[in-house]
Amino acid sequence: MDSIQLAESPKTTDEDREHLLAIDLEAAESEVETKFLIRNLTTEAVISESAAAGGGVGGGSRPILKWINAEIPKGVVVGIIGPSGSGKSTLLRALNRLWEPPPHTVYLDGQDICKLDVLSLRRKVGMLFQLPALFEGTVADNIRYGPQLRGKKLMDNEIHKLLSLADLDPISFINKNARELSVGQAQRVALARTLANEPEVLLLDEPTSALDPISTQNIEDCMVKLKKSRGMTIVMVSHSIKQIQRIADLVFLLVDGEIVEVLKPNKLSEAKHPMALRENPSLATTITSTLWCV
Ligand SMILES: Nc1ncnc2c1ncn2[C@@H]1O[C@H](COP(=O)(O)OP(=O)(O)O)[C@@H](O)[C@H]1O
Ligand SMILES: [Mg+2]
Repeated sequence: MDSIQLAESPKTTDEDREHLLAIDLEAAESEVETKFLIRNLTTEAVISESAAAGGGVGGGSRPILKWINAEIPKGVVVGIIGPSGSGKSTLLRALNRLWEPPPHTVYLDGQDICKLDVLSLRRKVGMLFQLPALFEGTVADNIRYGPQLRGKKLMDNEIHKLLSLADLDPISFINKNARELSVGQAQRVALARTLANEPEVLLLDEPTSALDPISTQNIEDCMVKLKKSRGMTIVMVSHSIKQIQRIADLVFLLVDGEIVEVLKPNKLSEAKHPMALRENPSLATTITSTLWCV
């Protein structure tokens, strides 16, 4: 992993440093745990009668995700990219059962998520959407909401910490009415509200596509901070290759319901996505024009 850092000591020679680095790298390699394991995940959508009639398909269902196999390591930022309609949101939603996956297909820390209590799962695996939906009331009311459901009242100083973590000035925001916020500020409050549940994983579905460049940077900074300071695992769908290159450690390329490549962000230009080319040559053009050039 490229996040390994050496503790500097004035007495450490270059030789020592090389040795330490070798040990740290070995340790880091062996310590990488799998947070999510996805095995043969296939999801289907029911085709409505009108769509079936229009498309000449005889009703029933059609696959959205097709035999997805993937591992999401603990404490990394995974970026998911792919053409519109390829199943990115469906995959993300399957990870916290907003879209119920079949049993034995998604494991969190080795446990089948279908066997977990769904509310505890969603606390552990928080989610942010493209547009923040805050409740009526103040910023503090919004942040207190999740813990309150489990009988915990957050103190003001705890709300301050959460707001700082989400890159918002606590003093000026804590008592603001949610209606007075810009979309960028509201998205950061939504992030603070999610963080109030102390999640281990964050799922982000194009969380900055409605934001200005400064707010986008604020959110990206938060992600990097959360990964570094809390070892948070982050799975982020983005349409921006540049964003993925700024913050992701690993990238899944999803085409037509299949993960066709897993790449390091700096190797994105080398993606060949042969399946996309083979299955549907027009997809290659779509990927090139909508993703590679963003
Ligand atoms: N609730 C739903 N019912 C039926 N089909 C859906 C539903 N949600 C998404 N789909 C279909 O699933 C496919 C993948 O959608 P989605 O996961 O939203 O793609 P992406 O996020 O990559 O744009 C699309 O063809 C979409 O029309
Ligand atoms: Mg989507």
